[in-house]
Amino acid sequence: MQASFMVVANWKMNGCRDRVTNLSHELITRCGFLNQPKIVLCPPYIYLERVQETLASSKISLGAQDLSCENNGAFTGNISGEMLVDVGVQYVIIGHSERRLNNAETNDIILKKLSIAQFQGMTSIFCIGENIVEKQLGNTFKAIDHQLKPVITLIKNDPSIKCIVAYEPVWSIGTGCSASVQDVERVNKYIKQIFNDLNYPIKIIYGGSVNEMNIEQFVAIKSLDGVIVGNASLSADKLINICMRVEKQTMNTLADIV
Ligand code: PGA
Repeated sequence: MQASFMVVANWKMNGCRDRVTNLSHELITRCGFLNQPKIVLCPPYIYLERVQETLASSKISLGAQDLSCENNGAFTGNISGEMLVDVGVQYVIIGHSERRLNNAETNDIILKKLSIAQFQGMTSIFCIGENIVEKQLGNTFKAIDHQLKPVITLIKNDPSIKCIVAYEPVWSIGTGCSASVQDVERVNKYIKQIFNDLNYPIKIIYGGSVNEMNIEQFVAIKSLDGVIVGNASLSADKLINICMRVEKQTMNTLADIV
């Protein structure tokens, strides 16, 4: 567990105006001024501005779930990086497996998105992770090598890029079956080595069926800097519980160190 642990709430395509507003209000009231964890809320595009208004002077940050790979122009239905920044977005999820699968996102598209996020000054939360077949065939690192290519290209060109890697094994997303501590540690070690060789101080967060019952095991992983929470972040109680548990565990660890 690192000094600054992140909890990223990925609400995906869920909620309505009232639900999203209530969720962020409840979170701000109970966790909005905690030093730990660093909380990032990623509502659907259409509610970004509304959530941003509720965040006001709290310590919680706003994130988006995606961005267009184009800067502007005749791209009906797309949302540009510039627009996100315009409404206060600081973090953007890129390359989520649901987008890779449902929207046929390739490494070329992802590279463009990472470049735009960088240009706009946002921090990319760059998702990678093997699927179940790759895992069963022992090809986890091969899948990761392939998915990391765009970010490695960018870092070689511009080491000032702001990027966090989110290790989200596809088989663990929305299944209730999270990766084991050993799985996460093994993959983190592999990823850290790649970025060490580039001299880039990478932060790694984990996503896939994180909830209030298993959060503590992830906070205890030394090489892990945070979590992305999907399903469990749609319940104010669960999300608050997760954040409170992170806060408590972090404080205990700091007290032990002192
Ligand atoms: P989950 O989703 O927590 O529902 O598994 C995580 C994610 O997709 O980021």
